[in-house]
Order: sequence, then structure tokens, then C-alpha cells
Amino acid sequence: MSAHGSAQPMTAHKSGPLKGVAEVPGDKSISHRALIFGAMALGETKITGLLEGQDVLDTASAMRAFGATVLQHGPGAWSVQGVGVGGFQEPADVIDCGNSGTGVRLIMGTMATSPITATFTGDASLRKRPMGRVTEPLSEFGTKAYGRKGGRLPMTVVGAADAKGIRHTLKVASAQVKSAILLAGLNAEGQTVVIEKESTRDHSERMLLGFGADLTVEKTAQGNIITLTGRPTLRPQTVAVPRDPSSAAFPVCAALIVEGSDIMVPGVSQNLTRNGLYLTLVEMGADIEFQNPRTEGGEPVADLRVRFSDNMKGIEVPPERAPSMIDEYPILSVVASFATGKTVMRGVKELRVKESDRIDAMARGLEACGVKVEEDEDTLIVHGMGPGGMPGGATAKTHIDHRIAMSFLVAGMAAQKPISIDDASPIVTSFPIFEGLMTGLGGTLTQG
Ligand code: S3P
Repeated sequence: MSAHGSAQPMTAHKSGPLKGVAEVPGDKSISHRALIFGAMALGETKITGLLEGQDVLDTASAMRAFGATVLQHGPGAWSVQGVGVGGFQEPADVIDCGNSGTGVRLIMGTMATSPITATFTGDASLRKRPMGRVTEPLSEFGTKAYGRKGGRLPMTVVGAADAKGIRHTLKVASAQVKSAILLAGLNAEGQTVVIEKESTRDHSERMLLGFGADLTVEKTAQGNIITLTGRPTLRPQTVAVPRDPSSAAFPVCAALIVEGSDIMVPGVSQNLTRNGLYLTLVEMGADIEFQNPRTEGGEPVADLRVRFSDNMKGIEVPPERAPSMIDEYPILSVVASFATGKTVMRGVKELRVKESDRIDAMARGLEACGVKVEEDEDTLIVHGMGPGGMPGGATAKTHIDHRIAMSFLVAGMAAQKPISIDDASPIVTSFPIFEGLMTGLGGTLTQG
């Protein structure tokens, strides 16, 4: 199965030391939001550093279908002529969000309180993922959704006219669900309150404030209480998208496990809702220096100097850290394979409903590469084989999942024998320059 036409097998070979500077692309979460919030503002939002990955391009097309004018002016430089809160028009055709759960869920929220109807679909991966987590809270606004069994795409969403704000406590720790409700609340009368027991990425809150929304976040013993007042006029912004810490994870982790490596990865977000992987790596004994801390594009960032680390130990990752590193468990399980002792990852059942079942995809692939793995519904345990210890010599199935694909290519750069993946095509969704960036550092990747 491939995301975009025919499958593109790729093989990673044991690589020489990785050296140089890894400039990773713009943050995927912030890129989606820049386009969507730009479309809801009145006037022209300018964006630099936009991730031009397929997921984000699909969101750009969707915003055009709802009436915004979205233009590319140069690499990463885009503008959005927004239609204002409540200004969405009904799309003339089905909205195809490709591989992107963030895209489809945020956009459903955005149109949920406008009196229009839209039908959403996506690729074979997205069509397996649950949408009920978003459409159930949206139904409290009066929004109706008609999908396939299990709340799957394709799905038709009928927006509510004259919606009133709601008060909702999240059932899953999900920034996508939180954001969908807040976006719907923008065009509802009065206050919309979202209560999250565990903190999830807070880009929507930060950016909505920047766009001029009336929003407060109260941190309490019960969690975060986010209150938004509906029907604001959002002011267009200039958004400088910072680099993506989830993409940075791949060169960082590659440098940690490929012998002799010493690289710089500039501008990696240290936002506390995104930096769980980096805390975990440091606890494992990774050699990472956090240099030049500063603020970029409204996010706290640092330049990371990362060196080969032959002394990493397996650890128990605190389950409450999961939301701040939810997309990084696949690559962490690769690093864990090259550590000494076992790494225990609990509280990770959300991984089962990502672009693929990431617990299953990593467990099967690592086992094929000679690593002992244990799993249950909510847990992944990797038994480390020490530096250079992974035998490799296998092909991993990527299940239309970019992060599974990149994780096994990184593993193959440090394993004893090459590791192949059945399909590298999904990598374009989040990290279109992955192959060039990794080979530029000294990684060996071949087609087939
Ligand atoms: C995202 C939230 C996370 C994450 C996804 C991006 C976002 O999903 O896995 O890649 O931009 O809000 P959940 O919020 O469903 O955990």
C-alpha cells in the first residue's frame, strides 16, 4: 500500500559518522494552524517557513475550497486572504485531507458552526482512523456527522446554524480534539470552555491569542481550563513557523546511534508541550547540548549539538510525558534498541490510532531486525542491544506512516546489516527533504 501511487522501497546502510548542520523544515502543527487561522482572520496573513509537506498542502487546498485565497510566493513563503470567522463558503466538492488527521479534524471543527455541509475523505490510512472523538464533542454545538461504521471517513459534516458555546472535558489527551472544539467555538455565541486533564500541545491557544481571540488558560489541579469567547474578529498575522521538533528527532536520534557523529540541529522547539523526547534522551544519557536558547516564531527554541552516545541506558519513560512526545515513540524505540537495558514506554495506547498502529508497526519491524520487544494494548518495551548491537538485515512495513518509515531508515544507518522499508513515499507528508538532509549529513540511503 502506498500513499501516493506506487510504493517506493528504500534501504538504509550502515553509515559513516554523521557531520554537519541539519536544518529541518517548518513545524507541521503550526503550519496547518497558520493556514486555518489565516483563513478565519479578516485580511491577509503572511507566513514564512511553512512546511511544504503534503499534509499541509492538502490543508491549503481545503482552505481554498472553503473560500480563502491561499498563495505561494516562494519557498515557505505563503499568504492567506481570510474570509473571517463565520465566512466559510460551502465547498463544491469532497475535501480530501490525504494522510492528515490534524488537517481533517481541525477543519471539521472550523466549519462545524457554519450553516454549510462538507464531505471529507483521505487516504487508506486516514480512512481507518476514528473521527468520533471530534464529531461527538462537535455534536454538542448541534453539528451533525454521517460517516462510515466506527466514525470513519468518508464523512459528511453538517454545520450548526446559530451555535451556542459549549463546556467540554476532553476524554482523550488530544490537541487535535481540543483545537477542533476551540475552532468551532470561534463561531458560536458566548463562551466555549475546554478542560484538559493532561496538557497537550498548546499551539492553538498561543496562535489564537496572537490572532486576537479572547482566550484564557487557567492551570488548576484538575488540569487546564481553556475559555474562548465566540464571534471575535481575528486580525491577520505575520507567522514565522519555527522548525519542527518532531522532524528534528530523526537527525538527532541518528547522530546519537551512528558511531562518531557530531551534528548541529538549529532552532529546535523547547515548548514544554513538545519536548518530551529530548528530556527522555537526556535521561538515557544522550550527549545533547542545548545552546543559544531564545524565542523564534513565538516558540522557545535552542540549537542542539548532538554527538554519538555509546553510553545510553534504557529507562522507564513517565506515562504522563506521553502527550509531549506522542509522535516520537517510534524513533525513541529505535534509540532504545541501541541503549543498554530495557526502555519501558507505558500509557501509549494513543499510538494505536495514529497514521498506523505504531506499537504494532514498531514491534514487528524491530523484531524482524533482531530486537526483543514486548507489548500490550498500552505499553511498548524494547530490550536494548547496546551501541551497534542491532543485527538489522530485514524489511520493515511502513503502513502508510511517515514516522515508521523514517524510524527504520535511521535504524538502518546504525544496524549491522542494511534495513529496508517497503515504502518511503509517505515521508513527503511531513519531511519532504528527509532523504537529501540525511545523505547530506553522511547517511547512506539507496532506492529499492
Ligand atoms: C497534532 C496533535 C497530535 C499529533 C499530531 C499533530 C496537532 O495528535 O499526534 O501529529 O497538530 O494537534 P493528537 O492530538 O490526536 O494526539
